[in-house]
Amino acid sequence: MAFPYSEKVMDHFMNPRNMGEIADADGVGTVGNPSCGDVMRLYIKVSDGLITDAKFKTFGCGAAIATSSMTTEMVKGKSVEEALQLSNQAVAEALDGLPSAKMHCSVLAEEALRAAIDDFKGKNKEAGKPDVVMDCCIRCEREEPKCDKGKNE
Ligand code: FES
Repeated sequence: MAFPYSEKVMDHFMNPRNMGEIADADGVGTVGNPSCGDVMRLYIKVSDGLITDAKFKTFGCGAAIATSSMTTEMVKGKSVEEALQLSNQAVAEALDGLPSAKMHCSVLAEEALRAAIDDFKGKNKEAGKPDVVMDCCIRCEREEPKCDKGKNE
């Protein structure tokens, strides 16, 4: 069945951006769509709370590949917390829309992004690093007495 895809969807499907792996990724998320069997893996690189790089590998339909590609483009340069707000609807809008029968395919990218961020946060926890450096922690470096996680704010 042929779907009426937008030019942007076709462009990202035919020329996917950021396809591949990040060998030393800070977070990796893999999700599958049980209804069609398609799978997406998304890699992120994070520095100072900002996503500096994102790549993906998707075994899926054109809509899944286009939304994966657009998702990686949209999250680069965003903070981890901003990236968590990225919805599949926003990605579909950035692609000038998806046929309603293909909207479910865009959920794959959103969930893979969340999974990659969860993985990043888990890894940071293991390494004993905070998820996000709060303003008060930055100030505490310079001010005495040091507050205890914002208690003296
Ligand atoms: Fe499986 Fe689109 S048909 S993700």
